[in-house]
Amino acid sequence: MAHDIANILQQDHERLDRMLEDAAQAVQDARWEEATKTLESFRRGIVEGHMAVEESLLFPAFEAWEGGEDHALTALLRKGHRDLQVFFSEMADAITAHDAEEFGDLLSTVQTILKQHDAKEESEVYPHLAEAVADGGELAAKRLLAGQEQGS
Ligand SMILES: [Fe+2]
Ligand SMILES: [Fe+2]
Repeated sequence: MAHDIANILQQDHERLDRMLEDAAQAVQDARWEEATKTLESFRRGIVEGHMAVEESLLFPAFEAWEGGEDHALTALLRKGHRDLQVFFSEMADAITAHDAEEFGDLLSTVQTILKQHDAKEESEVYPHLAEAVADGGELAAKRLLAGQEQGS
């Protein structure tokens, strides 16, 4: 197998963190147009790429592999995705309003949530994916890598 789904996911977390930092830097420099574009690339990358692959391919496979009815961990992670998306749209509003202070408050909240979320995935879900996903994560890896090319 030429890829390692756990590594690819972890690198995608790091790539998305950097994109968010780029957006924050643009806000700090009052480069509002660039901030809008960079935040939108980040949002698309994380929501339509990363989270969509997790929720449509990886979490269902993980849940089936875990067995049982109660999937508290993935339920929590899915809820985290919903909560984060609310903050992303509030960050976009702050940029539209040229409100760097509001953006900064939202940013630190988002970074705190993301750090915990990503750490939980990386320690409790990703290590099991190669075994849990029927194709070892090949399709998920392909979709993530394709999304990265589009977003870059
Ligand atoms: Fe996630
Ligand atoms: Fe993730």
